[in-house]
Amino acid sequence: MKKTPATLVLALAATVVAAGCATLAGSPDPDVVAAEMVKTGFRSQGIAKVERVTQIDETLKACNAADVAGKPLDAATAKRIEEANLKTVKWPSDGKFLGDWKEGEKIAQSGRGMTWTDSAGAANGGNCYNCHQISKEEISFGTIGPSLYNYGKLRGVSDPNAAASKPIVEYTWGKIWNAKAYNACSNMPRSGHMGNLNEQQIRHVMALLLDPASPVNK
Ligand code: HEC
Repeated sequence: MKKTPATLVLALAATVVAAGCATLAGSPDPDVVAAEMVKTGFRSQGIAKVERVTQIDETLKACNAADVAGKPLDAATAKRIEEANLKTVKWPSDGKFLGDWKEGEKIAQSGRGMTWTDSAGAANGGNCYNCHQISKEEISFGTIGPSLYNYGKLRGVSDPNAAASKPIVEYTWGKIWNAKAYNACSNMPRSGHMGNLNEQQIRHVMALLLDPASPVNK
């Protein structure tokens, strides 16, 4: 019989079921099978290295395991992971937390970068609108994360340099640098920690969220 796409799908499904049974019977370890698939299915090209898939740190290991188990991390592990991630946060070298909100808007809008055709050290986008509402003008945004519209205003930041603003300014920097410092298995990328954004870019995005002159706070 000539295989149509539909029967092909059925044939594939049968293979998967058979493979599942084989695993249950105690043969191939799924981790070993997965590692082999990564080895044969991925290759490094340009700046896009296979290590992006294979090098998983303790945070991702623990969060992946919790996902597979279908339950959240226990409180003690979550606390340990958050503390370890907080230690990775690099604070602004000159003590200045805010840059230019107009540049921040461009960075938040852009999801470009880190592909094999990009050159090493090229600036990436922050991809923030993919998950957050930010300014009212942009109506195309994702909702995985909470709305950041009026971010500074809602938190009473009328002068980002005032001592009273310090806790929220520092938290926002830390969150953007390494989101898992405050929520162990956060879905938000660790933009500074993973080298997606540099210090100056984070200053600009900070201004977008916290500068009273930014459209976000109007
Ligand atoms: C893949 C989705 C995703 C992307 C991309 C993303 N975020 Fe988030 N963000 C989240 C989620 C989910 C939360 C809420 C859960 C948490 O705190 O981890 C969050 C929380 C936040 C918070 C804390 C809000 C609060 O009230 O405490 C800030 C600030 C923030 N994001 C800023 C940004 C900025 C700036 C960018 C771009 C550089 C960005 N996010 C990119 C998913 C994302």
